[in-house]
Amino acid sequence: MTRRTVRIAMNGVTGRMGYRQHLVRSVLAIRDQGGLDLGDGDTLWPEPVLVGRRADALRAIADRHGLAHWTTDLDAVLADDTVTVYFDAQVTAARPDALRRAIAAGKHVYCEKPTATSLTDALDLARLARDAGVRSGVVQDKIFLPGLLKLKRLVDSGFFGRVLSVRGEFGYWVFEGDWQSAQRPSWNYRAEDGGGITADMLPHWEYVLRELLSPITSVQALTATHIPTRVDESGAPYRATADDSVYAVFQLADGTVAQINSSWAVRVARDELVEFQIDGTHGSAVAGLRDCRVQHRSVTPKPVWNPDLPTTEPFRAQWQQVPDNAEFDNGFKAQWELFLRHVALDTPWRWDLLAGARGVQLAELGLRSSAEGRRLDVPELTL
Ligand SMILES: NC(=O)c1ccc[n+]([C@@H]2O[C@H](COP(=O)([O-])OP(=O)(O)OC[C@H]3O[C@@H](n4cnc5c(N)ncnc54)[C@H](O)[C@@H]3O)[C@@H](O)[C@H]2O)c1
Repeated sequence: MTRRTVRIAMNGVTGRMGYRQHLVRSVLAIRDQGGLDLGDGDTLWPEPVLVGRRADALRAIADRHGLAHWTTDLDAVLADDTVTVYFDAQVTAARPDALRRAIAAGKHVYCEKPTATSLTDALDLARLARDAGVRSGVVQDKIFLPGLLKLKRLVDSGFFGRVLSVRGEFGYWVFEGDWQSAQRPSWNYRAEDGGGITADMLPHWEYVLRELLSPITSVQALTATHIPTRVDESGAPYRATADDSVYAVFQLADGTVAQINSSWAVRVARDELVEFQIDGTHGSAVAGLRDCRVQHRSVTPKPVWNPDLPTTEPFRAQWQQVPDNAEFDNGFKAQWELFLRHVALDTPWRWDLLAGARGVQLAELGLRSSAEGRRLDVPELTL
């Protein structure tokens, strides 16, 4: 058994996603399990080099986790030939510049979504990576969630018959920041900083629908900024220049109609923070982050509309849980492992910067659809 080390420059690890999901729950979790078994007798050992702007914050994280390497000098770490992978979970607006520098330095790149704030930048990054011959990856964590894996299993089994529609509800109340602190960073609510729920969530819905069913062919969206003023991390009020809700209808290549509401100004009356319902001719399913319930056509009740009588059917109780039938790992870690295998062994991989650009394209078209008040086609992207 040989241990192969892969040194990864990790930028943005002081942030919510960079620290919790990528450093702790993914890269350090892979080390906790003894590295990544490559299946050929070798083990891959990820060695993070923490990168950021604030030395004290980086040092504190490094000390907490017993890590030896951190730096505030991105150029120096990119010039280091022992570092072969660059990872980016910075605020979206800071990402394209850093990715360009990493690609120019010959690093394989892996990053959070959205890859950029404009399709022009997103496509440029994808072309640069292709031309430089480096491997690229973009986080598409939702398809690795247990609930969505179960949905995918149902689709693959033919459970639904002909799929008719998808209804998605995503969201929760994000506090304004005045009498209770906001649970999301303030840049999310400023368009000039790359914020906005359309830019944030439509990239997710792009790959979720593509991977579950088929690619999106059109989008009609209505965005809103329901909460116009918020209070930032320092207690100062600011104007929310970005959308905090988007109500979108998508047509898919297979004929499915998908409607997904995404909002940071909604109170949760669901079982989970995101839920998708798929209705098909033979059955329906409702999936959240973890659970998935089904109702087959053979057990579908026959309600009759009569508002004069109280509801007698326990509709929610008429659904059946889909069993796990597997152990589910953290979705971010599962995708990290696949990316590291792709880097080490050139295993098949489809979530590259072009896939990331598709998400940015959908977000851009969603915003335009709302601004122009019309439905827009979503052309298939190529490089
Ligand atoms: N995959 C997902 O489900 C998911 C969820 C949330 C956020 N994200 C994405 O992850 C990225 C980071 O989001 P987050 O919620 O962790 O944000 P965050 O504000 O918590 O962290 C941002 C990080 O970027 C760094 N940074 C670099 N330049 C900066 C600048 N000019 N201003 C402010 N911070 C700067 C910060 O130091 C910090 O490390 C975003 O691109 C976001 O869209 C993805």
